[in-house]
Amino acid sequence: MMNEWPERLVLVGAGKMGAAMAAGWLAGGLAASSLTILEPNPSDEIAGLAASRGGALHTAAPTPPDVLALAVKPQSLDAVAPQIAPLAGERTLVLSILAGKTIANLRARLPGARAVVRAMPNTPAAIGRGVTAAFASAAVTPEQRLWTEWLLGAVGAFHWLDDEAAIEAVTAISGGGPAYVFALTEALAAAAVSLGLPADLAMSLARGTVEGAGELMRREPGTPPSVLRGNVTSPGGTTAAALAVLQGNDGIDALMARAAAAARARAGEMAG
Ligand SMILES: NC(=O)c1ccc[n+]([C@@H]2O[C@H](COP(=O)([O-])OP(=O)(O)OC[C@H]3O[C@@H](n4cnc5c(N)ncnc54)[C@H](OP(=O)(O)O)[C@@H]3O)[C@@H](O)[C@H]2O)c1
Repeated sequence: MMNEWPERLVLVGAGKMGAAMAAGWLAGGLAASSLTILEPNPSDEIAGLAASRGGALHTAAPTPPDVLALAVKPQSLDAVAPQIAPLAGERTLVLSILAGKTIANLRARLPGARAVVRAMPNTPAAIGRGVTAAFASAAVTPEQRLWTEWLLGAVGAFHWLDDEAAIEAVTAISGGGPAYVFALTEALAAAAVSLGLPADLAMSLARGTVEGAGELMRREPGTPPSVLRGNVTSPGGTTAAALAVLQGNDGIDALMARAAAAARARAGEMAG
């Protein structure tokens, strides 16, 4: 029988994303005694998490675990690789969330690694509402795939990719997407100010609207956004007047396509 959770997991880097994942794993049922965290400057939260759950917070490297999860900044990989390379044994799953680091790149720095999963989460993972997509190298076993689904599913929705290059598109959509939605909120607030509303009220209206629309979409998973949009758009009405501008030529569809294409191009340049 396959185990849902790995018996031994080492997390390298417990910053924003690493700490969020560790919290999700422990809340989701990973035994704290299974988890070792390598982090030179643990936050009070992560030290407290380790202490309260009986997990280990180490700076010394143990032997190769079932899963070696990498959550350092991509630019720290070169510095950290010599320290963690002995942990990437031939039966270890290397699970990386490092933006722009390809599987070939990770293998070059961790020569003992066989099975590698490259994943791209996004920031709402910090509140358990992330969206993550991942690609598995050919050496990843069914059990390691199951572990990946549990580990990444513990912080939100999870999707497999069957092509590593798709990670760059995912980076451009869900990776950066939260920032696009924040930018939309800012634009909505700025538009409110331009219509004469006070700045505080403008921001409250914009934030509340984006939050409410997101929650409505979440609660109606079977209803396409186009239908939700249609439900609030009476023919000839005020929303229709706005959407005629927003969805007109060179409107939001073309703009979003250009924005995403720019992000994907940049992801390609940064890969290495
Ligand atoms: N944030 C996102 O939305 C997002 C989305 C997708 C992917 N990612 C990826 O997630 C990764 C982590 O991002 P983050 O925002 O969580 O960064 P972060 O908060 O800076 O976390 C990185 C952590 O790794 C630690 N670290 C550095 N060197 C280490 C070493 N030798 N051994 C162990 N730990 C070490 C850092 O400690 P110090 O503070 O001491 O350097 C820091 O606590 C990045 O690779 C990023 O590309 C992030």
